[in-house]
Amino acid sequence: MKFFVDTANLDDIKSLAATGLLDGVTTNPSLVAKSGHSNFIELIREIASIVDGPVSAEVASTDFEPMLAEAKTLAKIAPHIAVKVPLTPAGLKVCKIMSDDGTMVNVTLCFSAAQAILAAKAGATFVSPFVGRLDDIGQNGMELIADICTIYNAYPKFRTEVLVASVRSPTHVVEAAKMGADVATIPPSVIRQLFGHPLTDKGLAQFVEDWKKTGQTIPV
Ligand code: E4P
Repeated sequence: MKFFVDTANLDDIKSLAATGLLDGVTTNPSLVAKSGHSNFIELIREIASIVDGPVSAEVASTDFEPMLAEAKTLAKIAPHIAVKVPLTPAGLKVCKIMSDDGTMVNVTLCFSAAQAILAAKAGATFVSPFVGRLDDIGQNGMELIADICTIYNAYPKFRTEVLVASVRSPTHVVEAAKMGADVATIPPSVIRQLFGHPLTDKGLAQFVEDWKKTGQTIPV
């Protein structure tokens, strides 16, 4: 399973990239606004210089023509940009054109299996179903991931990867992995939670204490 970080914060991206466990980055207009950066293109360029894997950069327009023009601009920033388009008729039209042209496309704001089928038919590289936002309205986000994985697995010609988005907890990540989802895009705080377990902390403290009792050091 690939891990993308869901942020436009450069410090978080740098520190997580340094772990060697990061496979990509997703951004969206809200995350860009939160980052405080005033030059979106430069921000994406900088993120793409830190991470080798796909960097999702989202279009701002909702109409077809301006969206396509923006998608072309974003695709030129770096070869590993995944242009992010909304799951709308205009977004899927742009997806088809850009995908046919060899650009990675991430179709975002997916909330149903029917929408995920359309994204695959449009040649999306990634489809982003939002699990947390479905949970927020009393639906089961992980059921949607299970449905999409089942459908995509039934059609080997669908090459679209399931990119689990709107992740709120390590449980979402583990459940998605059990279902065989290709990617999870995870907020930095949740990635850090993945490392933690109280028994790891307790066990390490004990090992450190016991090692001191040996009076030894490991030659380096
Ligand atoms: C990722 O591509 C999405 O934009 C993101 O995961 C949305 O997450 P949120 O529902 O926490 O805003």
